[in-house]
Amino acid sequence: MTRTRKKIAVIGAGNVGATCAFVLAQKKLGDIVLLDIYEGFAKGKALDMSQNGQVLNYDGNLTGTSNYEDIADSDVVVVTSGFPRQPGMTREDLIAKNASIVKQVGEGIKRHAPDSIIIMVTNPLDLMTYHMQKITGFPAHRVCGQAGVLDSARMTHFVAKAVGCSEEDVQAMVLGGHGDTMVPLPRFTTAGGIAITNLLTDDEIDAICQRTASGGGEIVKLLERGSAFYAPGSAAAIMAEAVLHDRKRLIPASAYLTGQYGLQDVYIGVPVILGANGIERIIELELSDGELSSLQTSGNFYKSQLTDILGY
Ligand code: NAI
Ligand code: 2OP
Repeated sequence: MTRTRKKIAVIGAGNVGATCAFVLAQKKLGDIVLLDIYEGFAKGKALDMSQNGQVLNYDGNLTGTSNYEDIADSDVVVVTSGFPRQPGMTREDLIAKNASIVKQVGEGIKRHAPDSIIIMVTNPLDLMTYHMQKITGFPAHRVCGQAGVLDSARMTHFVAKAVGCSEEDVQAMVLGGHGDTMVPLPRFTTAGGIAITNLLTDDEIDAICQRTASGGGEIVKLLERGSAFYAPGSAAAIMAEAVLHDRKRLIPASAYLTGQYGLQDVYIGVPVILGANGIERIIELELSDGELSSLQTSGNFYKSQLTDILGY
C-alpha cells in the first residue's frame, strides 16, 4: 500500500528536537518519529505531545523510539542529537563529541531512510553537516544545515526593535558559518522593502550585526545550562516544511559549495532555494569586496577545521 502521509524523523528528543517536533505537529506536516538514545525520553515526549493533539487540534501521529528501524523511509530527517554549548564553550568545542554522535546517526539514516533529505542542526553546524554528507554518501543537495534561518531571525528581531516596526516587515540576510565568523549583510536587509542602511545609523547597524553574531552565546550565558531552542527548533521545522511542501523557499542555509563565492568542498551558509529535492539552487549574490572577503574568511576557517580536527 502506498503511504499518503509524509514521514518526518527527528533525531534527538532534547530541547531543539522536541521543539521542532512540536512545531511540525502543529503544522500538520505528517507522521513524526522522535528518536533518542534514551528510549523512554523520546517515548515520553512523543506521548505528551500526542496528548496535546486535541488541545491544539492536530492529529499527527507522534511516536518515540531509540530504534532506527522506526525511521524507515522517512521523507525528511532533522538531526538535533548532540551536546549543546555550556557557558564559556564555543560551538567548535563540541566537535569531537558530536562528530561521533553524527557518525552513529548517519549510519542509521543511511541504512533505514536512504532516500531522505537531511536537515542538520547539531553543532558546530557547518562541520557536522559536511560530516553527515560524508558518512551517508548522500548527494550533497540532500544534506543541508539549519543556521541562516535562525541567525536571520535574530537579526530581524534586533532590526525591528531598532526601527520600531513589526518583525513581519523585516527581511534579514545572514550568511557564512554558524559561529563567530558569521556574516550579517545589512545591504541585503530591509524593513518594509527599504534597505536598513536608509533607516538606521552605521553605529546602530554595527551593534545589530555584532549582537546577531553573538546571539547564540548571549542566550547560553543567560540560560546558564544549555543553549537556545525555541527559535532553533522552529527554524528547522520551517526548513522541513519547505521540503515536504516543495515550497521553494529562498532562505540562507548551510550548503555544499563547489566554487560558488570562490569556495569549494565546504559547507557554509549561503542563500538557497529549498524545495522537494533539498537544496535546488545556490544563489550567488553580487557581494562587495568586504562582504566577499568576510564570507571567504568564514568558509576557509571551517575548511581548515575539517582538515585539522576532523581529518578530511
Ligand atoms: P539537548 O541536550 O537538549 O538534546 C540533545 C539530545 O540528543 C539529548 O536528548 C540526547 O539524549 C540526544 N542524543 C545524544 N546522543 C545521541 C545519539 N547518539 N543518538 C540519538 N540521540 C542522542 O540539546 P539541544 O539543546 O537540543 O541541542 C542539540 C544540538 O543542537 C546541540 O549540538 C546544539 O549545539 C545544537 N544547536 C544548533 C543550533 C543551530 O542553529 N544549528 C541552534 C541550537 C542548538
Ligand atoms: C545557537 O545559535 C548555540 O548554535 C546555538 O543558539
